[in-house]
Amino acid sequence: MRRGKGLVVGVVGATGMVGRELVSLLDKRGFPVAELRPFSSGRAKSHVIFRGRRIPAPGVSKESLEACDIAFLVSSDEVALELAPALAKKGVWTIDDSAAFRMDKSVPLVIPEVNSHELSPKRRLIAGPNCTMTGLAVAGSLLHSKIGIREIRLASYQAVSGAGKAALGELFGQYDELKGTKTLADGRAPVLGAGKSAVLPKSIAYNVIPQVGRFGDDGYSGEERKVAAELRKVWGAPNLKISATTVRVPSIRGHALAAWITLARSVSLEKVRAILKKTPGLVLSAEGTTRRRAPRPDRARSTPAGCAAARRRTSSRSGSSPTTCSRAPRSTPSRSPSPCAAAAGFNTLKS
Ligand SMILES: NC(=O)c1ccc[n+]([C@@H]2O[C@H](COP(=O)([O-])OP(=O)(O)OC[C@H]3O[C@@H](n4cnc5c(N)ncnc54)[C@H](OP(=O)(O)O)[C@@H]3O)[C@@H](O)[C@H]2O)c1
Repeated sequence: MRRGKGLVVGVVGATGMVGRELVSLLDKRGFPVAELRPFSSGRAKSHVIFRGRRIPAPGVSKESLEACDIAFLVSSDEVALELAPALAKKGVWTIDDSAAFRMDKSVPLVIPEVNSHELSPKRRLIAGPNCTMTGLAVAGSLLHSKIGIREIRLASYQAVSGAGKAALGELFGQYDELKGTKTLADGRAPVLGAGKSAVLPKSIAYNVIPQVGRFGDDGYSGEERKVAAELRKVWGAPNLKISATTVRVPSIRGHALAAWITLARSVSLEKVRAILKKTPGLVLSAEGTTRRRAPRPDRARSTPAGCAAARRRTSSRSGSSPTTCSRAPRSTPSRSPSPCAAAAGFNTLKS
């Protein structure tokens, strides 16, 4: 900290989806910034707005970054691999939001509300987590530490901004192209053509894509593997059973998750709700069967980290393992008799 003045803060990737949100949060949360040094790819002349002022965001200057107290890297794995280790070695607190170091054993992967105890003055490089698992990690953290979570099945509904600004541009462009789409003359719904896409695997306007990242031989996509591996690391739960199915939907921001959570012992839904209410970073926005206040991306803002709607609890089929389950709100009430029930998590920090 520059005495009495605050910190010199570098942001690499300041002109991206995460970067612009981050710069806005530094201002909104009154982070003690003495000087902001934003950087972009340098491919175009760009700037960010901070505290109402326009600040140029040129290409990265390593010299300028090394003179920062904190550097946020919100760009790409490649950029992080090139910059982060050297910056941390120079004593700069380096917070990297890419996937480059998340699973590196020597690098803490931290969600402040969940595992800030992993932070240490000796480890200047800190990894930030995948946006999909963040909502789940926050929502389930106290349940996990107080009751124990044995298994999670997760389905995600991921906004396009989570894939970066180029993907969001693609979504808007596709809707422009499809302007005028309406029911057919005989009243039937139109059938969409394949559409054009360069960033996402398929055209996303009026569509959903059950693929986020590349599929591996195990049948899981890159995003699905990240969710599982990163959650195990953040919770310190290497044996946690988790199966995620991640899906891209054509919403702009705010990922929704439906999670079916098997607890280590039987507890009432009231107890689950009481724990969710006390969970740091989480707002329990829908209690019981009330749907009016259920969390939705259009209500989600940059804080808090997530919100949840504890919904149902039933016994497992075997009768031995109690299961709570979390689900995203939907337009019709679920009448599923299957064992499960409890919270919809929204990662609203960014996405
Ligand atoms: N989007 C999310 O919800 C989310 C959530 C968690 C983590 N992340 C991670 O955060 C990182 C940024 O994601 P994003 O969605 O913000 O991406 P994005 O919208 O595509 O923005 C990328 C940023 O990186 C800059 N950049 C590109 N190439 C560069 C280079 N060679 N050197 C320096 N800067 C360069 C871009 O500058 P220009 O403006 O000049 O192109 C832009 O500022 C990624 O690693 C992503 O995996 C994203």
